[in-house]
Amino acid sequence: MKARPQDSMKPDRNSRYTIAIALVAGLGGLMFGYDIGVIADAKIGVKSAFGLDNVQIEMVVSAVLAGSFLGALMAGRLCEAIGRRWTNVWGGGCFIVGCIGCAMSVDLSMIVAFRVVMGIGVGFSSVAGPLYIAEVSTPWSRGAMVSLYQLAITIGIFVAFLVGLLLDPATQWRISFAMGALLGGSLIAGMLVMPPSPRWLIGRGRYDVALGVLKRTLGSDREADKELDAIKRRLVEESGQSFWSALRTSRAVRMALILAIGLAFLQQASGINAIFYYAPEILAQVGLGEHKLQLTAVLGLVNVLATFIAIWLVDRVGRRPLLLGGTALMMASQIVIGLTGTILPATATSGVTVGGMVTLASIFVAIIAFAFSLGPLVWLAISEIFPSGVRSACVGVATSFNWIGNYVIAQGTLTVLDFSSTLAFWIFAGCNAVTILFVFFRMPETKGVPLEDIEEFFERKRDGDASAAHRS
Ligand code: BGC
Repeated sequence: MKARPQDSMKPDRNSRYTIAIALVAGLGGLMFGYDIGVIADAKIGVKSAFGLDNVQIEMVVSAVLAGSFLGALMAGRLCEAIGRRWTNVWGGGCFIVGCIGCAMSVDLSMIVAFRVVMGIGVGFSSVAGPLYIAEVSTPWSRGAMVSLYQLAITIGIFVAFLVGLLLDPATQWRISFAMGALLGGSLIAGMLVMPPSPRWLIGRGRYDVALGVLKRTLGSDREADKELDAIKRRLVEESGQSFWSALRTSRAVRMALILAIGLAFLQQASGINAIFYYAPEILAQVGLGEHKLQLTAVLGLVNVLATFIAIWLVDRVGRRPLLLGGTALMMASQIVIGLTGTILPATATSGVTVGGMVTLASIFVAIIAFAFSLGPLVWLAISEIFPSGVRSACVGVATSFNWIGNYVIAQGTLTVLDFSSTLAFWIFAGCNAVTILFVFFRMPETKGVPLEDIEEFFERKRDGDASAAHRS
């Protein structure tokens, strides 16, 4: 299958319009990232304010992941019922309530409950954000546009680390939480002036409005008419299929769902959040404890900058090379960390040693590798591989597996790190090896392919056709 040729009448103004839409939806990514970063420092203040033990503080940390899991599951249905745009608005609303509630909490149960509400907001956004961006983007810029969502996540994490550095976490944690409400407010304000997804409108029979949106995003009346017809045709072919009936009857949907769930879970099994959640502890263990907060902020900045590699390359070289190359590089850096821990072990009291520096350099490489591969490309793949009729339900299910993976890593890493700091990295390297095989054998190349045509990859009968498809 070939990518449709790029429309020569695509004016700049309209690609700017799509960028504007992606940036506004990206505000949900800022919430997502802020929420990951803010708790790293805020937990110190929360712990002493409410006199919590380690198990209780773990509850505060992980409540948001439980909320995000629930939010992602609900978002699939919501995106269908009220649309992608309004699901984002609700995501922003829950986040505001959650942040303010956390800031005003007076005891453990109150802060846990409001962390769940924050999580629900993030869960809504993690489904509706990438989905909305993928559906308003053109085939030739969809990769970069959805990668903007990941860029926003990384900026959110970085900003939260900076806030942690600037404010005293012991006394000012309430301010850190309250500041998150600004992000939710911006998402709501931005979304209200954005158009609904044309694919959702067509599913509702609102063809005129959909055509208007397509004209603005595609920049050409002729292309917009063609796109409207293509989407309508697809929806008629899929007509009336619910999520469950599509799963029973369509091999394409089953294959795409296995791919999306696998990628969503494996993104977390790469160990990226072991680094972001426990960077200070890991750095302290290899003798770099003195500069751990500053170094953690620098790691956050490198994560932001390296995401631009994906934005620049994803629609040029394609999804598979970036994903395979980045995951292999991440795996290699984790093997180096594992070997260094055995050959040149550094300890919390050893000060700066060669082993500590090699570990630090490898952590930087792992973050860069993730930032141009598994980070953006998993959100992109999940949002683009499903047929229109069941897209939102499938994205919701797949995304909920990302949150399950996130929870498992958040809970499991500390236990493994306590036992041996290098073992965790060997495990993550093993998971990344699995990801490489999984992507190689199951993931088609979708660069430049219109959303409506991607399903065809999964309709091919023989296993292995998917990896062959990208060469055709
Ligand atoms: C992942 C997050 C992770 C972040 C790091 C996202 O794609 O889903 O779990 O913390 O990337 O940049």
